Amino acid sequence: MNIKALKSLADIPGPTKLALIRDHLPFGTLYRKTSSELYNTYRKRHGNIFRLPGIYSNDSLEVVLFDPRDFEHVFRTEGLWPTRKGLSSMKHYRHVRRNELFGDAAGLDVEHGESWSNQRSVANHLMMKPDALKNYLPRIDKISKEFIEVIKNQRAPLTFEVKDNFELSVDYWALESIASVGFNTSFGFLSGRENALAKQFYRNFKEYSKISYKLDIEFKVIDILRYFKFQKSMWLLEKITKFWILELDKTEVISLVQKLHKKEQSNVLGVAMDILMAGVDVVSEFDKDAEMGLLHVIKRDDKKFANGLAMDMLFAGVETTSSALVGLLLNLSADLNKQEILRKEIESIEEPLSFDNMKNLPYLRACIKESLRLYPVAPVNSRTTTQEIVIQDFRIPKHTDIVMPMINLMRDEQYFQNANHFIPERWLRGNEHFKVRDPFVYLPFGFGPRACVGKRIAMMELEVVVINILKNFKIQYYHSRNNAFVPRFINVPNLPLKFTFRDYT
Ligand code: HEM
Repeated sequence: MNIKALKSLADIPGPTKLALIRDHLPFGTLYRKTSSELYNTYRKRHGNIFRLPGIYSNDSLEVVLFDPRDFEHVFRTEGLWPTRKGLSSMKHYRHVRRNELFGDAAGLDVEHGESWSNQRSVANHLMMKPDALKNYLPRIDKISKEFIEVIKNQRAPLTFEVKDNFELSVDYWALESIASVGFNTSFGFLSGRENALAKQFYRNFKEYSKISYKLDIEFKVIDILRYFKFQKSMWLLEKITKFWILELDKTEVISLVQKLHKKEQSNVLGVAMDILMAGVDVVSEFDKDAEMGLLHVIKRDDKKFANGLAMDMLFAGVETTSSALVGLLLNLSADLNKQEILRKEIESIEEPLSFDNMKNLPYLRACIKESLRLYPVAPVNSRTTTQEIVIQDFRIPKHTDIVMPMINLMRDEQYFQNANHFIPERWLRGNEHFKVRDPFVYLPFGFGPRACVGKRIAMMELEVVVINILKNFKIQYYHSRNNAFVPRFINVPNLPLKFTFRDYT
């Protein structure tokens, strides 16, 4: 390639700041439109590569790509320590406001370079390896079975339809699953034993999700409330952290007390008080990882990283899995034949569920994959370049933010035949007819060393809950599926989730 013929970043086509503002004003093309509509609009105007002046967190330029070959090039040149821009309010809170809690090992979502790499190898070991994960399966299964009881109790007696706030129960399932993996504890959301503090914690968590989208992602021509939104986000994070991180300490004390109590038949409350007063490092008293939450295991070596990962698991591991389950229920209820094929595969699995008896479930895995295509959880992926790269004859300097709106390609006939149909078969080996045409179009959990560290946990949660649901119910949905999700930081459900769960006999 002739290096002189290459064009610069400034030559990349795209809307000017003025055009961007005009498009967002009332009566403008993009007024109140989603980010996905924005990407489609500018793609039509400017092509498969365009530059956007500062929309993500309103402060810096972005290059947006649509060609899977370019995605591949970005990922292949990301190096050993890939970088992705995160939520700036979250970063500020962990690095500046509460540095004493999180320090320089503040979690995977906000760290970069060597610090990220060190944390990530610990997390990979504990979150991606089947041997480490098998301890969590019985806990996940217990939560799923509690979720089944919630469904049974929520159904209307004659129609078997759940109420339109079913989304809350799905969120509770996802939150309890993460609490069981992370802390080996339960907040009682599914058994109706949640206390007022837990309820408030959940409300704060949801509010931060909304406010951080408005603060850090959504483009606004003028945002006069920005300062107040920022202060509110700090206040919410403080409340969330106090509850969630405290849980890390509290569950350790409770488990230790229970252990001592069993051994010595002593007074539980007295022992707990002694431990708290003495400030004993209770984590070192555990002897088996199986008794602990994943975060307790990490805390033995690095308390700050445990705090950071606790926040990551909450913010990256609850609404994501919840959204994925909603998508899957919508797809399975839309095609009862596929639901029946899946049920046949699942029927033979014996209780209790284990890695061994869940080994051979190709159709279930294909259904989850296909559902994540039709309703992807993460609308875009992004990278900040770690070196200068060349894309479509443009030189893209180091430290440039690149956005890859994969959601805009997931239903494109160019890449998927019958793209709007739920066809799990396309993911089964030997199925030439619906072969997926480009692996870089479909990356629901991201790519490379920075890909989702919770992928295996998420898949385990989804598999276990679907097995439990299909063994108990036939799922139907009698309402419109139009605009089922709306893209925020992740895709969130945008429908009353009034599913019908008839007993399956
Ligand atoms: C269906 C559910 C989920 C989906 C679709 C999903 C998707 C993703 C995606 C697309 C990324 C960015 C990857 C990249 O940049 O290449 C990511 C990152 C991440 N996810 Fe997930 N995720 C899910 C569930 C979870 C769960 C359950 C957890 C925690 C237990 C989790 C924890 C994380 C963390 C910590 C990161 C940041 C990793 C890093 O930067 O090193 N995710 N996820």
